[in-house]
Amino acid sequence: MDNNRVVIFDTTLRDGEQSPGATMTHDEKLEIAAMLDDMGVDIIEAGFPIASEGDFRAVSEIAKNAKNSRICGLARANFADIDRCAEAIKHAELNRIHTFIGTSPLHRAIPNLTKDEMADKIHETVSHARNLCDNVQWSPMDATRTEWDYLCRVIEIAIKAGATTINIPDTVGYTAPAESADLIKRLIETVPGADDVIFATHCHNDLGMATANSLAAVAGGARQIECTINGLGERAGNTALEEVVMAMKTRNDIMPWHTGIDTTKIMAVSRRVSTVSGFLVQPNKAIVGKNAFAHESGIHQDGMLKNRENFEIMRPEDIGLSGTSLPLGKHSGRAALRDKLQHLGYEIGDNQLKDLFVRFKDLADRKKEVFDDDIIALMRTDQDAENDRLKLITLRVTCGTGGPADATLVMEVDGEEKTAIEHGDGPVDAAFKAIRKLHPNTARLELYQVHAVTEGTDAQATVSVRLSEDGIVSTGESADTDTVVASAKAYVHALNRQLVRRGKLGEGADAKEINYKDLA
Ligand code: KIV
Ligand code: ZN
Repeated sequence: MDNNRVVIFDTTLRDGEQSPGATMTHDEKLEIAAMLDDMGVDIIEAGFPIASEGDFRAVSEIAKNAKNSRICGLARANFADIDRCAEAIKHAELNRIHTFIGTSPLHRAIPNLTKDEMADKIHETVSHARNLCDNVQWSPMDATRTEWDYLCRVIEIAIKAGATTINIPDTVGYTAPAESADLIKRLIETVPGADDVIFATHCHNDLGMATANSLAAVAGGARQIECTINGLGERAGNTALEEVVMAMKTRNDIMPWHTGIDTTKIMAVSRRVSTVSGFLVQPNKAIVGKNAFAHESGIHQDGMLKNRENFEIMRPEDIGLSGTSLPLGKHSGRAALRDKLQHLGYEIGDNQLKDLFVRFKDLADRKKEVFDDDIIALMRTDQDAENDRLKLITLRVTCGTGGPADATLVMEVDGEEKTAIEHGDGPVDAAFKAIRKLHPNTARLELYQVHAVTEGTDAQATVSVRLSEDGIVSTGESADTDTVVASAKAYVHALNRQLVRRGKLGEGADAKEINYKDLA
């Protein structure tokens, strides 16, 4: 491979999905994997097969469906994990086992191993992985806080045992750009056999430096970046794929590296990941934030009209944003809607279009103009209504100053229509109480967020909620011109997803039974 080619290793479905609340369903994982494969991601880390039956099934199905990408599974440093991982990825034409162990003093203390015992374990487990798969990645977790001599020693052992990629994780987002570049450079210069493997960088964003640290690592000689869509991941997240890819493309004069990513697919994948994970993208997020290409101030608008390069260093089309934004209205037909969806990067089947068109018409009746963001909101909340056990039928709320709000709710529960009347501290509280009356549950409302999709008093509101019950976390989202209705629908959506996850838990489908940090 040419020396300036940087391999993109996407871990949205593993490190990203590990983020509390970001759990995706089986079908959602397959859908995201297909999008990543299609956009040119070189390696997809599809999950952690031993963690649960659900993770195993997802990794093996993604392995079967992969067209271009190499499919990788994660395994801790033990034979059971590695065997399970090898089994899950075996159907992929191109596959990889990624095995890891925490090597810093703090992480060595967890399994209580001496340096020598850990070195032996690394040799044994990497050799075992290499006997099962000819493409093995090894990671010394918390590498950036591991003693230099020991880090060199264990990397040499892993290379001798057959690792083909050595990943250097900055597990806690501790490093800084100059240090990141220097670390990789010195490792490549020092460790015997380093020239025979690819060095990878895996950064977390705790200090907001993940993108800078990853690019600096490439300057130091790394040729694989590990990243996630929208920077999804635990705590402050991982390196964002869209940021490193667009940085290399835009500043190729000083970062002369390239990837195989079709950048015009970025927006569509970003939106889908945001929807299925329930993690909204902050408006000012680099590359994919709603405002990343918006120019509101008068001076900026004037400058943009004279020459877009005055204020834009990237073209919106390069990430799949359509330049035009002609609104649709109630007279727009199905073909116009399909055309708009294609412009926005969505490919949908006839049945989905049929359902969406009904909801579009309903919205167009209530709203003068339906903008791109309204359509995106409809797509984001295109919920699996058919299988839902709870379906909101009608909601009426009365509220005003100086008294409680009253909600009258009709909801279908397992096919049976039921009514509840409840009072609350405001309309949302009353509506949620009515829902809880018809579907009693103890789920804790961890997040409740309202966003206006477009401007005006007839704007749609998007509401996101996150629920947690017995360690099962689910998110729900909905959009409506009525904020209370959007709130109730989002709550019901999250409850339906709780029910799905709980139902699957019996088979272990979506349970996080093992955390990757439990290094027993
Ligand atoms: O952050 C980390 O150290 C990881 C490892 C499993 C590579 O995600
Ligand atoms: Zn990580």
